[in-house]
Amino acid sequence: MTSAQRATATGGYHHRHLLGIEGLTAPEILFLLDLSDSYVDVNRATDKKRDLLFGRTVINLFFENSTRTRTSFELAAKRLGADVINMSIAWSSIKKGETLIDTAMTLNAMHPDVLVVRHPDSGAVQLLSEKVNCAVINGGDGSHEHPTQALLDAMTIRRRLGRLEGLQVAICGDITHSRVARSNIHLLTTLGARVRLIAPPTLMPSKVERMGVETFHDMRKGLEGCDIVMMLRLQTERMQGSYVPSTREYYRFFGLDQDKLQAAKPNALIMHPGPMNRGVEIDSDLADDINRSVIREQVEMGVAVRMACLDTLNRNLMAERLAEGQAAQ
Ligand code: NCD
Repeated sequence: MTSAQRATATGGYHHRHLLGIEGLTAPEILFLLDLSDSYVDVNRATDKKRDLLFGRTVINLFFENSTRTRTSFELAAKRLGADVINMSIAWSSIKKGETLIDTAMTLNAMHPDVLVVRHPDSGAVQLLSEKVNCAVINGGDGSHEHPTQALLDAMTIRRRLGRLEGLQVAICGDITHSRVARSNIHLLTTLGARVRLIAPPTLMPSKVERMGVETFHDMRKGLEGCDIVMMLRLQTERMQGSYVPSTREYYRFFGLDQDKLQAAKPNALIMHPGPMNRGVEIDSDLADDINRSVIREQVEMGVAVRMACLDTLNRNLMAERLAEGQAAQ
């Protein structure tokens, strides 16, 4: 039986790592979402400390800047009782010195239990996971995947609207460079939501319709009848050359403002993974509109999702080590 079949049969998530949403089954995703739900209450309580990860070491290995993802993983691991080390490595220094694999091997020798890795190259986190003995969580690799972001987005939607199935979700902006878009497309289509992508032709990946989505180059047409409007940042750090004429012109055609939002359902929710560029992809007042924007809830859900992922991978790792120990006897 493959691990995916086992998850379907028994309920649960039985992989050693969390590298991406692609390939996960609906029951596996739902298991992580349900467990995350239970952690929301833990995070709202005065006493947030648990000891499920007591004695475990979590290393946050970030080769790219991050504010919310790194802090959120750190908080999640500490609330579960783990020892946490944060390593921020400038990509320039890693290029000069050790390779990614050397760094991984060095850290592996210190016997961590979970490595949370963010890296500017797509596929780098998967490569690293093949070289270490611990569990690995992808905190974002290039423009490939950002699984915990998609999980927290799904949780935010599900808690607000009660379901994902049948919802119409628009993901708008720089799709080409966005790992958030890719992970969300996999998750939302697996759980039965319909996904539309809205972007200028230069920021829309070719043949993306193969992922089961509809594409639009006009905000009003694409937003028509949508339940969710998810905005993305122009990821200039991943662009070589110019993809948009100017940020002013981009805002005029693709920035979310009151006028364009009229095309969506009257109570459509606005989402953004952050960091936001106010006045570039989103109007500043809309971003702060407590009746429409769930951007702050997304950040809150992030901690709960990361606790659920750390909890799950730790359990799997302990079960694996126990089985290895028994086999050796
Ligand atoms: C996203 C990322 O890093 O991929 N942000 C995040 O994780 N909160 C999106 C972005 O950087 O635009």
